[in-house]
Amino acid sequence: VITKIKARQILDSRGIPTVEVDLFTNKGMFRASAPSGPSSLMYEAVELRDGDKGVYLGNSVTRAVRNINDKISKALIGMDPTLQSQIDQAMMDLDKIEMKGELGANAILAVSIAACKAGAAEKEVPLYRHIANLAGKINHIIPVPAFTVISGGRHAGNSLAIQEVMILPTGAKTFEEAVQMGAETYHHLKAVITEKFGAHGCNVGEDGGFAPDISGFRDALDLVKEAIGRTGYNERIKIALDVAASNFCIGDVLHSANWSCHNAMAYGTSGWLGCLCTKYDLDYKSPNKSEQNFKSAEDMIEFYKELCAEYPIVSIEDPFDKEDWDHIKFFSGLGICQVVGDDLLMSDPKRVDRAIRESTCNSLLLKVNQIGTVTVAIEVVKLAKDANWGVVTSHRCGETEDSFIADLSVGLATGQIKAGAPCRGERLAKYNQLIRIEEELGEQAAYAGEDWRMS
Ligand code: PGA
Ligand code: ZN
Repeated sequence: VITKIKARQILDSRGIPTVEVDLFTNKGMFRASAPSGPSSLMYEAVELRDGDKGVYLGNSVTRAVRNINDKISKALIGMDPTLQSQIDQAMMDLDKIEMKGELGANAILAVSIAACKAGAAEKEVPLYRHIANLAGKINHIIPVPAFTVISGGRHAGNSLAIQEVMILPTGAKTFEEAVQMGAETYHHLKAVITEKFGAHGCNVGEDGGFAPDISGFRDALDLVKEAIGRTGYNERIKIALDVAASNFCIGDVLHSANWSCHNAMAYGTSGWLGCLCTKYDLDYKSPNKSEQNFKSAEDMIEFYKELCAEYPIVSIEDPFDKEDWDHIKFFSGLGICQVVGDDLLMSDPKRVDRAIRESTCNSLLLKVNQIGTVTVAIEVVKLAKDANWGVVTSHRCGETEDSFIADLSVGLATGQIKAGAPCRGERLAKYNQLIRIEEELGEQAAYAGEDWRMS
C-alpha cells in the first residue's frame, strides 16, 4: 500500500520550476515529475503556478507541492498502488469537491505517474507491462522515434516559422538501429549546417534541434535531405513536420485592428480571442514582414502538397490553426500524409471524439500532462486506436529526466514517440529507456518500423 507521499519543487529543462513526487510503498520509493510546455494552454488541464512575480518570475509551484504533501497524500495513503483508476479518480474527486480545480494538474499528474510506477513494482512487472495490463493490451511494440533535428517556431530564436523538422527511421530493424540512424543523421546535419552557416548555425533550440537562422520551410528541408543523403540511409529515413501553425496565423478580427493572433499570444490563443485565422505569416518572427507574403489556407494546402511531393514527408502536425477544423479536414482527406492533431486536440477526449466523428485528422499527439492522469491517457489512446488513428506519444518542451513516456509508448503500443533530438539528457532519458526496454524484451521485442502508424 501507499505509505507516504512527499513532493518537492525541482527545475525542468528550461530552468522553470516543476513538481517532483516521491511515493513510498512497502516495495520502496517511486519518483515522478511533471513536464510542461507553452502550447495550447486554453483547454489544457490547468497547471498550478504560484504567480508571485518576485519568485521564479511567477513560475514557482510551491502551492502544487503543498497540495500533494497535504491534501493528496491524505487521500491516497493506504491505497493499493495497482488500482490506478481508483487513485486517479480519488484525486479528481478531491479536486472537484475540495479544491474546485485548484489542486493543480501538475500535482495530479506527477502523483498519477509515481503511483503507476509503484503499481508495476507491486506486481513485480516492468512498468511498460503494467501499463499494458491496465490498458488490456498484450503485445509490446517499440515505437518509431521522431527525432527533432531542426527547431524553429516557439522552440528557437531563429527566423523559422515551422516548429520542428523530425526524422523517422522507419526502415530500421530495431529501435537500437533507429537510434544509430537518428544520431548519425544528426551529426551529418551538423556538418552540413556548419559548412553553410558556420559553427553558430549549430546552436540548438529547446528540444535539441539545430536552429540555423533560416526562414523558409524548404531551406530547413533541404538541409535535412542533404544530411540523410550523406548517411546513405536514403528512403529508410522519413521526415515529419510539426508546423504548429497556430503560432503564425493571422486572425481577421484582430488583423483589422492591426494585430495578428501571434502578436496577441501573450493574452491567449486565437480561439480564446475569438478571431478566425485566415492567413499565415511564414515570416512571423521578422520585424520587416510584408503582408504580400502572407499565405491563405488554400495557399498553404498547395504548399504542403508541393513539399510532400519534393521531400519524403510522411506526417504533418498542426498544419493549420487549431480552430480551423475545415482546412485540417480537407487536407487530411487528401490522404497525402499522416495529419497529427496536437494544438487541434490538446489531448482532450471531447475534442478527440469530435475530430473522430468529423474525420478532421487521423492521428493523436498524446501529451500526458494535458490529459491529467494515466487513466485518462489510456482512455484517449483507446479512443484514437479504435478509430484507426495513429498515436504519437509526446514529450513537452519543458522536460525532466523522468522517462515515463517511454514505457507508456510501449505499454500502449502507440507505434510512434516524439521526444526531441537524439541529444540532451532530458530527451535521451526517454530514448535510452527504450533501448533498455528493447534489450529486456529480447526476442519478444517488435520495433514498429514500417508499421509505425497502425501498430
Ligand atoms: P510544447 O509543444 O512546446 O508546448 O511542449 C510541443 C509540440 O508542439 O509538439
Ligand atoms: Zn505540436
